[in-house]
Parts: sequence; C-alpha cells; structure tokens
Amino acid sequence: MTVLVTGGAGYIGSFTVAALLARGERVVVLDNLSAGHRAAVPPEASLIVAELADADLAGIFETHSIDAVIHFAALTSVPESVQKPYSYFHNNTANTLRLVEAMRQAGVDKIVFSSTAAVYGEPQSNPITEDHPKNPQSPYGQSKYFSEQILAAFLVAHGVRHVALRYFNASGGAIDRGEDHTPETHLIPIALQVALGQRKSMSIFGTDWPTPDGTCVRDYIHIADLADAHLRALDHLRSGGASLQLNLGNGAGYSVAEVIAAARRVTGHAIPAVEAPRRAGDPSTLVASSEAARRILGWQPKFADLESIVESAWRWHHAHPHGYGDRT
Ligand code: UFG
Repeated sequence: MTVLVTGGAGYIGSFTVAALLARGERVVVLDNLSAGHRAAVPPEASLIVAELADADLAGIFETHSIDAVIHFAALTSVPESVQKPYSYFHNNTANTLRLVEAMRQAGVDKIVFSSTAAVYGEPQSNPITEDHPKNPQSPYGQSKYFSEQILAAFLVAHGVRHVALRYFNASGGAIDRGEDHTPETHLIPIALQVALGQRKSMSIFGTDWPTPDGTCVRDYIHIADLADAHLRALDHLRSGGASLQLNLGNGAGYSVAEVIAAARRVTGHAIPAVEAPRRAGDPSTLVASSEAARRILGWQPKFADLESIVESAWRWHHAHPHGYGDRT
C-alpha cells in the first residue's frame, strides 16, 4: 500500500509526508514545486515533479499501487485569490475534479482532502462547528468548498470516500522543517521576518474589527498536530470509516495584536507594527470547534498555546532565515 500525496513538498504536505514515512508508510509525492520545495521532501519518498492538471495519474496509481490519496496541492493565499480567481478555481477546484475522477477510474477509493476554515466565511458565531452555514468570502474559500461538494458527489455516485479537513491557521515549525512561502503573506512568519531584520516593520490589517482589541482573531494550530490528524483520517478511511468533514483547530482565538506580542516575547525584538486598512477577503474572527475530530479520530493537539507555536516557528526561521534556500 502506497499513499499518493499531492502537494507533498509544501508546508503542511511535507510535515505529513515525514509523519507517514516515520510510521513506515510508502509515499509518492506529486508536486509542481510552484510553492513547494524539493528539499522539503524527505529522500525516502518518491518525488514526481508535474502539474496535477496534466500528470499521468492512471500511470502513477498503477505503477505505485496507490491505495489512498492525501490531496494538498493547491494555491492557498486568501488575498491572492481575490486578485486571481481563475488560478484558484483552476488549480484548486478543476484539479480536484480531475484527481478524483482519475481515482474513480483506477479504483482508488480513499482521499484525505485539505480544506479550510475559509469555507465558512464570516461566521454567525464562534467556535464554529462543521454544520455552520458555508458562505466563503474569497475565491480561495469558494474553490475549496466546491471541491468538498465534488467529493460529496463522488461519494454518492461512485463510493469514493473522503475526509475533508478544514484547517484553521496552520502555523509553527520544527528545527528542520517549516514555513517558506514566496511571497510570504502569513502573520507569524512575517512577524518573525521583522525580528530577523528582513523587514523593517509589518502591517496590522485593520484595527476596527468587531473584536476585543479591534484586530482579527484566528485559531492557530501547529503543523505537527495537523500532520497527525491526516494520519488518523487515513486510518479512519482504511478501516472502512464513513466520509467526514472535520475542523482542525485549537479552539482558542488570538488576535493579530496578541500574536505580534507573542512574537516580541519569543524573539526579544521590538517588531514595529503599523496600522493599515483591512485586507480584502478577511473574516473578523475564526475559531474552531474541533470536538468532532477529537471524538471521531481521537485527535488531541499537542501544541495547545500560542507561545509554544510561535517558539517552534522561531526555531525554524532562526535556523533557516532563507527557508529551504531555493527562493528565486
Ligand atoms: N495579518 C496582518 N498582517 C500581516 C499578515 C496578516 O495583520 O502582515 C492578519 C490578517 O489580516 C489576518 C490574520 O493576520 O487577520 C491572519 O492572516 P494570515 O494571512 O496569517 O492567515 P489567514 O487567516 O488569512 O488565512 C489562513 C490560511 C488560509 C485559511 C485561513 C483559515 O492562509 O488558507 O487561515 O483561518 F483559509
């Protein structure tokens, strides 16, 4: 049995590949390296560098005896998706359709799918449970929600089972593995780039949100905890479990100002931050109820507090100030 991991050279994907290999799984990574990094793929995994849109999926399934797919490959920036909707619907939705149809044709009937808290849009209440209405506010969130609907239809029509994992804010790192996006848009790595002297200051996008301190509130979840949830989702499907949609978060909300304050404590740097207008596509508050993932998968996040998440991100950024070193 071999797992195909699309996007396995990326941030969440490569942590999951490492976790799969650590428990003895065989892994094939399919990645176009547009956002992923060759150096992030452990040497024990087979790496196929190709576009999901035109890769020989039937050949990959047959050659490697694939029994399940973990599908990360996607564009992931909320603000970029507002500017480039075609790229997001093509890469995220159309490519998921192509993948799941190839799975059906090859008789591969299990998929763990990278979804997102962005499917909910501006929530009516927090913490958000999985049955909360879906009203994505950005093409990114829409592209992922359409993909979930494709998976639901393939379950009914063809029995391809899925676990869609709706991540809240993936964050943190390890000494040898971490976040490396170009351009970087995420809050924690941007704050740490200021601490490294790579930026003079950073922006706070909006200080007039309906939150306690006026800055946006998010639920930060460590990447190693996300990787662990993928392994548990895979086990669930392999043991015949039903299709699921599950939130993955810590259940605690931290504001942008609180995250920057944590980064200041962890790094000892002043991290100058200037107030800026709201960013398009941002909801004000996103906090997960992950009660279902805890109950059904037995998942328990190990990094439960913001400080330890930021510390682990700092260990990576401090040791690797230029990430994987292959930025162009
Ligand atoms: N922010 C700033 N300044 C920055 C960068 C970000 O104020 O320089 C703010 C954003 O406006 C937002 C918060 O920090 O309020 C978090 O922003 P990120 O870009 O780090 O993360 P997002 O919440 O926009 O998005 C992330 C993932 C999405 C996912 C979402 C779910 O990138 O894929 O979490 O919560 F959908």
